[in-house]
Amino acid sequence: MEHLIELRDVYKIYQMGDEAVHALDGISLTVDPGEFVAIVGQSGSGKSTAMNIIGCLDVPTSGTYHLAGVDVSTMDDDQQAEIRNKMLGFIFQQYNLIPKLNVLENVELPLLYGGVSASERHRRAMEALERVGLADKCKNLPSQLSGGQQQRVSIARALAGKPSVILADEPTGALDSRTGREVLGFLQKLNAEGDTVVLITHDNSIAVKARRIVRLQDGRIIYDGDAHDPRAVVQPEDEAAAGEAREVLNV
Ligand SMILES: Nc1ncnc2c1ncn2[C@@H]1O[C@H](COP(=O)(O)OP(=O)(O)OP(=O)(O)O)[C@@H](O)[C@H]1O
Ligand SMILES: [Mg+2]
Repeated sequence: MEHLIELRDVYKIYQMGDEAVHALDGISLTVDPGEFVAIVGQSGSGKSTAMNIIGCLDVPTSGTYHLAGVDVSTMDDDQQAEIRNKMLGFIFQQYNLIPKLNVLENVELPLLYGGVSASERHRRAMEALERVGLADKCKNLPSQLSGGQQQRVSIARALAGKPSVILADEPTGALDSRTGREVLGFLQKLNAEGDTVVLITHDNSIAVKARRIVRLQDGRIIYDGDAHDPRAVVQPEDEAAAGEAREVLNV
């Protein structure tokens, strides 16, 4: 079977004066349709670098990346932009909603760039807003919504493009823990309905809500497997964290 995401031996190396920083140090990873994967790791471990490559916002220094069978690792900026618009839905910590546009217009915006007709834009945007339970707020401005609702609008905006993959980089980072859990619940619901989700978080209690965890350390994958294995959330030698992890996991 063809993988949806396939990274093979991916390096991202930044030359900083005399020093070569290996932000990604040889990563191989596959994600299949319908998966819910959390990428975790400490600050500086390479999560955002990995997300930028998976999200076609950046290319590897070496190695290959195939998205739905297409080699995207050597594409230029325009080709990457087209792939992003067609195949990827982004959710960020900052919702990046445009304050002057209402909720509906915000959700329609990427479709406008994608050349979708006005009536189809409206239909798809309303459908996406219904999925996140915000159809009744479609005429509100972002400032007239709570933080959690704003994040749900940004989820709707990602969904309206009918992406093959939803990429979320610390989507709950700006929210209090209850609202964060709510937004996470939405991602779980979308996954249950068939969407593929790749989530970045440094928060173990969030990560365990995914089905699979990929743990990065110093640009390498040190764990890839079941989210409910204690090894998913701790480094093997870290005993204090292991206790905490067992608590989070209830094991
Ligand atoms: N543009 C860049 N130039 C030089 N070094 C960079 C650049 N971007 C990232 N790095 C380095 O690559 C490593 C990985 O960074 P990355 O942003 O992927 O970490 P992260 O896991 O997302 O961290 P955080 O949890 O703090 O967001 C870090 O050591 C960082 O300093
Ligand atoms: Mg980061």
